[in-house]
Amino acid sequence: MSETKAPRIGVDPYLDWLKGEGIPTVEDFGVDLFGVETRPWARLGVGGAAVHLKGRGDFVNMFVLDIAPGAATSPQRHLYEEVLYVLSGRGSTTIEAADGRKHTFEWGPKSLFAIPLNTKYRHFNGSGSESARLVTTTSLPAVLNMFHNEAFVFDNPYSFEERMGQSKYFTGEGDFTPTLPGQHMWETNFVPDLAAIELKTWDQRGKGSKNIMFILADGTMHAHISEMQVGTYKKAHRHGADFHVMCVTGQGYSLLWFEGDKDFRRVDWKHGTVFAPPDRMFHQHFNTSPTPSRYLATAFGSLRYPFTESKRKSLTGGGGAGGLKQGGVSTSVKLGGDQIEYEDQSPRIHELFLEATRKAGVKVEMAAFG
Ligand SMILES: [Fe+2]
Repeated sequence: MSETKAPRIGVDPYLDWLKGEGIPTVEDFGVDLFGVETRPWARLGVGGAAVHLKGRGDFVNMFVLDIAPGAATSPQRHLYEEVLYVLSGRGSTTIEAADGRKHTFEWGPKSLFAIPLNTKYRHFNGSGSESARLVTTTSLPAVLNMFHNEAFVFDNPYSFEERMGQSKYFTGEGDFTPTLPGQHMWETNFVPDLAAIELKTWDQRGKGSKNIMFILADGTMHAHISEMQVGTYKKAHRHGADFHVMCVTGQGYSLLWFEGDKDFRRVDWKHGTVFAPPDRMFHQHFNTSPTPSRYLATAFGSLRYPFTESKRKSLTGGGGAGGLKQGGVSTSVKLGGDQIEYEDQSPRIHELFLEATRKAGVKVEMAAFG
C-alpha cells in the first residue's frame, strides 16, 4: 500500500501566495492606514503591507505601498483589478497598452485611480524629499483563488483593450451619466482630487447626503464617494461584506451593530481610517467635523457589473439597464430594503450624536430629521 499523504483540503491560494511575499499583514476591524508598517516588497521594489479587515469578504484585499523619494515601482502586470487611493505624496503612474501606447497621469493627495485590467504599469514618486503612500483595494483574492495559478495571474499576455477606455479618462476627465440619486455615474480611470469632485444630492440616505458612483476602467471593482454636511449624520443600513470605507475629509464616527445587539461597536475616523462593515452588520456614519465629511468606499461588484446578487440588490435594487430603482441600501427595511429611516432608529443614536457634537463644538442640523 502506498504512503498516505495529508489530505489537501481547505486551501486558500491567495493566503499561501501572500505568505511567500515577505510583507507584513495587518488584520483588524478598522485600521489607521497612516500607521501601517511596510517592509521592502521584492515584487514591486517598494515598501508594502497587506491589510485584511474583519469585513473584507471573500473577494478583495488591500495593500499599502510606500514609495521612497525619487523611487518607482518595478513594472507590474496582473489579471486582477486594482483601485488606488493616494494617502500622501505626489507622483505619477504610467500605464502601457499592449500596442505600446502609454498614458501618464500625475497624482497627489486624495487622488483615486484604477489600473485597466492586465496593463503594464509603474508608479513613480515625483518628489525628491517626500515619500508617497498609496492604498490599493484589489480583487487578487478572488482571482488567485479562482485560478490558483500564479503564472496565469501575473504573467498573462492577454490584452483587454476595451478596458483602457477613452484617452481623456487618464487626464482627469470623464463622462457623467445621470441616472437616479445615489446612482449617478462618473466614468473615468483617474480622479485627481476626491475632496474637490462635484457630488450629487442623495437625500434618501440622509439629510443633505451627497454621492457619486464611479465606473473605473470599466471594472468589476466598485468605488463611490459620499459626503455628509456639517452637523448631520446618515441613516443606518446594511449590506454584504467588503465595502472598504475610508475617510477622505473631515472627521466623525460610525456605529455598527447586528440586529438584536444590545450595544454598538464604535469606530472613530479621520483621514486614513478604513473599516469594512461585516456581512449584514448595520452601520451608520456621523459627521462631527466643522466641515463636510467625505468618505470613499471600495468593493467588489460595481454599479455596472455587480457580480453578486447581493451587490445587485444593494446598488441597483435588482434593477438593470432600463429598470432603474433605488437600491436596498437606501430603501427602508419596512419596504423590504436594508435602511433604517430616522424615525425608526433607536433614540440612543441621536442622543450619542448630540453628545459627540457638543464635545466637538459643532451645531446639530438635524432638527427636522424625525
Ligand atoms: Fe454601507
